[in-house]
Amino acid sequence: MPETAVENWTQISHLKEHVGEEVTLKGWLYNKRSKGKITFLQVRDGSGLVQAVAVKSELPDASWQAAESLTQESSCIVTGVVRADERAPSGVELTVTSVEVVDIPSEEYPISLKEHGTDFLMSHRHLWIRSRRPHAILKIRSTIEHAMHEFFEKREFIRFDTPILTPAACEGTTTLFETDYFGDPAFLAQSGQLYLEAGAMAFGNVYCFGPTFRAEKSKTRRHLMEFWMVEAEMAYADLWQNIQVQEDFVRHVVGRVLEKNRADLALLERDVAPLEKTVAQGFPRITYDEAVERLSSAGSDIKWGEDFGNDDEDILANQFETPFFVTHYPTAIKAFYMQPDPNRPEVALCADMLAPEGYGEIIGGSQRICDYDLFLERMQQHDLDPAAYGWYLDLRKYGSVPHSGFGLGIERAIRWICRLDHIRETIPFPRLLTRIYP
Ligand code: 4AD
Ligand code: MG
Repeated sequence: MPETAVENWTQISHLKEHVGEEVTLKGWLYNKRSKGKITFLQVRDGSGLVQAVAVKSELPDASWQAAESLTQESSCIVTGVVRADERAPSGVELTVTSVEVVDIPSEEYPISLKEHGTDFLMSHRHLWIRSRRPHAILKIRSTIEHAMHEFFEKREFIRFDTPILTPAACEGTTTLFETDYFGDPAFLAQSGQLYLEAGAMAFGNVYCFGPTFRAEKSKTRRHLMEFWMVEAEMAYADLWQNIQVQEDFVRHVVGRVLEKNRADLALLERDVAPLEKTVAQGFPRITYDEAVERLSSAGSDIKWGEDFGNDDEDILANQFETPFFVTHYPTAIKAFYMQPDPNRPEVALCADMLAPEGYGEIIGGSQRICDYDLFLERMQQHDLDPAAYGWYLDLRKYGSVPHSGFGLGIERAIRWICRLDHIRETIPFPRLLTRIYP
């Protein structure tokens, strides 16, 4: 018995290992087709979908009645003999020997197998996740999460959990969610980075994975209010070492998706060629200066010193076949903690990773300022209260070292890996500007 299966019944994903045997499935009716005295039940159990063929003349009466009574999303226990079937997407079919009803919905299931509008589906997200497309996407999400942890564990990073309730901002004060902390203001974390830096000084290489929050008052296809970020921080690492880890990381994660989720990618009609290239090739690196030149040639009116708009990112991201890095952005448009280039202080030792095929930024990272006085100066320029960041300044006081890190927004990565139009499909329950239900 596979380790994943629970005793006494078999998971659909493992049926192929049981050809010729009688097995029991516990699941839900996905769809049904009747042809007189034969009923074709499409049964799903979360691990897969299989066709179970019920023939009236071969079944006890009660089982035939049960099969007849099942409606979409009725829960049921189906026993039958596994037959190999080349034509079936799962490679097998079940010849039913018994059917037991667990629960028949008292009302018609609201999501039919026909087309529905996105808003309707989003309002029924708690049910929609049972359908094949969201199911495929969220399985890929799970693979990505497992693969991330696997990567860092193999490299002996310490997993270091950072707080969600925080006294100060990490990524600018305009997107903070504020809450009341027993009379004092507190903010939902925009990033775990500042705490992760403390972790790096204690453990060397650390990472965290958790929900992060940004009150982004714009409606785009790439922004969520609540998203999950995996972040790493490495003591003594410079910009280039940081970039190398990111490249290895993304190639590992995409490789795992290609290994485990071929069928899900096929269901999404995802062309896997760019994913295969991503695993096989190194990622190009261009500077911000070069990116501005490329954008100007492509007709953008961007001027040196300005941040890329979504359109600019799209133009750049359409020029590459694999993820790529843009390095050395102007210091003035990047976060307060980024180390200016000592040879050219108007640019920072930072890099964003952009996904190809028009998807844009998926990682932000940099070398951090490690000099105490320079840090104080930057905090004043950014109007940050040194009192709120006293502990963070301590890291520059007691054995400060150069260090670097990055954060990957996993919904952004999933959006690209699955090639989805909108980020709302990448997370079980998206928090959008105009939606917090369900
Ligand atoms: O570029 P950002 O703001 O960088 C940081 O937060 C750093 N403190 C990370 C670090 O160095 N430890 O955000 C990192 C990534 C972005 O590249 C993007 O993928 C994602 O987080 N992201 C969002 N994803 C979905 N919705 C949003 N509103 C996002 N904002 C950022
Ligand atoms: Mg960024």
